[in-house]
Amino acid sequence: MGKYWDAGIETLKFEELQKVQLERLRQTVARAGRSPFYGERLRQAGITSDSFQSLEDIRQIPLTSKDDLRAHSRDMLTVPLRDIIRVHASSGTTGQATVVYYTRTDIELWADLVARSLYMTGLRADDVFQNMMGYGLFTGGLGFHYGAERLGAMTIPAGAGNSKRQVQLMQQFATTAIHIIPSYALFLLTTFAELNVDPQDLPLRLAYIGAEPYSAETRQRIEEAYGLKAYNCYGLSELNGPGVAFECPEQNGSHVWEDSFLLEVLDPETLEPVGPGVVGELVFTNLTRQGMPLLRYRSRDLASYDDQPCPCGRHSRRISRIQGRTDDMIIIKGVNIFPIQIDRVLMGLPEVDANYLVELKQEGANETMVVKVEVKQDYFREDLKFLKALQKKITEALKSDLLVTPRVELVEHNSLPRGEGKAVRVVDYRVKG
Ligand code: COA
Ligand code: ZN
Repeated sequence: MGKYWDAGIETLKFEELQKVQLERLRQTVARAGRSPFYGERLRQAGITSDSFQSLEDIRQIPLTSKDDLRAHSRDMLTVPLRDIIRVHASSGTTGQATVVYYTRTDIELWADLVARSLYMTGLRADDVFQNMMGYGLFTGGLGFHYGAERLGAMTIPAGAGNSKRQVQLMQQFATTAIHIIPSYALFLLTTFAELNVDPQDLPLRLAYIGAEPYSAETRQRIEEAYGLKAYNCYGLSELNGPGVAFECPEQNGSHVWEDSFLLEVLDPETLEPVGPGVVGELVFTNLTRQGMPLLRYRSRDLASYDDQPCPCGRHSRRISRIQGRTDDMIIIKGVNIFPIQIDRVLMGLPEVDANYLVELKQEGANETMVVKVEVKQDYFREDLKFLKALQKKITEALKSDLLVTPRVELVEHNSLPRGEGKAVRVVDYRVKG
């Protein structure tokens, strides 16, 4: 197989790639039109698969927002339920989660893209791959798992957390490659130290890091501490999950798999396309997805692109590190949380007063979410037992919705700072890097 997993696609010249994209765009629009949601949208906009003479014509299609997806994902299906074999969901366990449906072909195409990505970084069938992402509804668990298996690497479905066991698994199976959240990679070093194990003595040589923003310095620290090469992976569950864009050995931006995703980078205010090197919102159109193709999906992630040829021989454009987001989503321990989820949980508890404050902190190598909650005067008694129980109740209510355990602090009515105008509910003290 040599240097490329899929040389025919990976080394296509950009103009050739664009021809493939145009053809697949027409097919995708025809397919999407079979779903109740896009059927209606495209009809209203007067668009058919013949509407596209060039890729620029995509701009006639209305953008798809996260709210569209939340409200209508079931109506975006182009096939009957009997053809769907899996669902994943992102952020939130109650109501607001965005759900994504996959056909068998979608799972296979996705696994192939992840395999292509891993192969690009040098992972091979004789590698041992330990996947430390959450295996539930998160796409990072099963998404990487299927990709690594497809490539033929021995895959350890370690899942998230349980730090001592992670180190033991690495020792027992002589793990060579890991998929890990960057903040956890740094945190895990404390466990290595406790166990008196030096990660440098293990055969680790590759790490895949993603799922949360991190700096170039964090990557460097991970590479040095573990003695490996760490590659950035980008993906979002709405478009499959991991394997939308991935770094090549040049480690200079992530190649977008443009045969599968049509990328636009738009000014988030004017929605006009921006040129190379300019930061804008990443907007993606699925080009191969069967069950639930999304057209012009606004990722809310801000980054720039580079269209210069890459020394690795691939011609697809590369995106920069994500520079920020257009929404207020919090990412902690690789889990996506919208502040509104916290609000909903807290405001649903009768003991909670009107004000609260969320602080995101870096404590040593660990990330913590501290939630300071004002308790109504009637409930704020000196009965310690009562307050302890209340604290536990709030912690559990938040944990079951957010999937991350916050540290809840109860404070007296009217004791949190109250600014003028819009309440500041979230303060992020974490320094990335
Ligand atoms: N990833 C994985 N494990 C993590 C972690 C992270 N980012 N941050 C901390 N942990 C570990 C802790 O060290 C702890 O290990 P231990 O069992 O050795 O004590 C364990 O997870 C639980 O820690 P705690 O602080 O109680 O976690 P929590 O209840 O706040 O969160 C997690 C639970 C870690 C399971 C949750 O944050 C999670 O599922 N993270 C992974 C998300 C993911 O896979 N995203 C992929 C998106 S593609
Ligand atoms: Zn490259």
